[in-house]
Amino acid sequence: MSPRDKNAPRDVDTPVIIAAKSDVTLAQKDNSNTKKVFIKTYGCQMNVYDSERMADVLAPIGYAPVDKPDFADLVILNTCHIREKAAEKVYSELGRIRNHKIKNKPDMKVAVAGCVAQAEGAEIMRRAPVVDMVLGPQTYHKLPEMIAKVHRKSGEVLETEFDTIEKFDQLPKTRSVKGFTAFLTIQEGCDKFCTFCVVPYTRGAEVSRKVQQIVDEARDLARQGVREITLIGQNVNAYLGEGPDGTNWGLGELIRHVALIGGIDRIRFTTSHPRDMDDDLIRVIGEEPKLMPYLHLPIQSGSNKILRAMNRDHTYAHYKELIGKIRAARPELALSGDFIVGFPGETDADFEDTMKCVREVGYASSFSFKYSIRPGTPGASMPRQVPEDVKTERLKRLQDLLYTQQQDFNQSLIGKTLSVLVEGTARKGSQLFGRSPYITGTHFDGPESLIGTIVEVKILEAGRNSLIGVLAE
Ligand code: SAH
Ligand code: SF4
Ligand code: F3S
Repeated sequence: MSPRDKNAPRDVDTPVIIAAKSDVTLAQKDNSNTKKVFIKTYGCQMNVYDSERMADVLAPIGYAPVDKPDFADLVILNTCHIREKAAEKVYSELGRIRNHKIKNKPDMKVAVAGCVAQAEGAEIMRRAPVVDMVLGPQTYHKLPEMIAKVHRKSGEVLETEFDTIEKFDQLPKTRSVKGFTAFLTIQEGCDKFCTFCVVPYTRGAEVSRKVQQIVDEARDLARQGVREITLIGQNVNAYLGEGPDGTNWGLGELIRHVALIGGIDRIRFTTSHPRDMDDDLIRVIGEEPKLMPYLHLPIQSGSNKILRAMNRDHTYAHYKELIGKIRAARPELALSGDFIVGFPGETDADFEDTMKCVREVGYASSFSFKYSIRPGTPGASMPRQVPEDVKTERLKRLQDLLYTQQQDFNQSLIGKTLSVLVEGTARKGSQLFGRSPYITGTHFDGPESLIGTIVEVKILEAGRNSLIGVLAE
């Protein structure tokens, strides 16, 4: 996924590179004191945010981001532990980094950050001696201290404490952003303990930032030209943060507040859990025009038996009722979801319940995965693990249906006029590129002076992943 696409719905298996604005790189090229940091990001939006903040933490001590590891002074892999494939990628990448280091830059320092660092820090140090530093998601504000230690002692450094509040209090007050969209972490961690998931172990307990701290950060982003903010959290709708009046505010109230900030024209939030979708939030979804009509609300499975085994703590009926309420509040809203096939004990009938759920609910986009055994989670030791070939076949059937729905949804937009936030020029040709309210990449002809503005585009063609249109009169 290219930096341009950094705010697209995340396929957590595709890395993102944080690179400097080209003008910054040029300006700093001649400055021999400037050190180069290469940050490669795997995983979810939270990691994308964290990588940007790591770059902010490193800027005052003289590091500028670059988009290749080859001659970097410092390489940071910001990792994801969600599925086995994601975690294993780290070790193959470390092998490549080791070769770069030997060949190009023997004094290069290497750090592993993020959820793999949190889950298996000591193991990383053992398996990959090239690694100088390991830091969990709640400790990256300590990077300068850790780098100093590494340089002083040439020893290994491991930081995996949980102190989310300290981290947010110590991050630089201003962010270096490029582009017109930004993620803003408002909540971290998870108390839900779904039996398949590592997140409660890698990110710790649910913690919400204070309203004022979030509003200050959003204002800073607006000052820098950001027009669309996505409020993010592992369970973003479990947000309960201290408001300016000393009481705890929910996500609905926070969104109303962020919507008052001049310059911020579009707001999104992700990822929500069906259990935390309260009436106030549904009211805001219906009433707040700056909130985009697109909601990511994963169910994982349509079978009540599997939902129970997953510890999701709600039924399919509850989810459907919720969707009904949300769609009544905001009829044009499009839904996206996550699905897991082949959770232990999932029978053909359970899987058919998932297919039925997808047919009944209807999704404009989705992410779907084969269940991946994660060490230390309750699912790993459950009986009746589903054979790989059965998972593969179920995933294919599910994705055929989900992709058809996605294509149908995009086709239904043909002839409609949608607002598009213009993010830049398209990779090929002279077209402009932006995102619809439904985050679909949209291409159309227009002058570059429109970059950074929100324009009306009439949709003429629709593929599964993108739209083509013309500027509306
Ligand atoms: N907090 C979010 C999900 C975060 S993880 C929620 O509750 O919905 C993102 C997605 O990865 C999950 O929704 C799930 O579909 C998938 N996932 C998590 N653990 C997984 C595992 N062990 N195997 C396969 N997919 C998994
Ligand atoms: Fe994982 Fe469940 Fe928490 Fe989501 S709610 S992060 S799936 S444990
Ligand atoms: Fe991955 Fe950690 Fe996000 S495990 S999905 S990077 S919270």
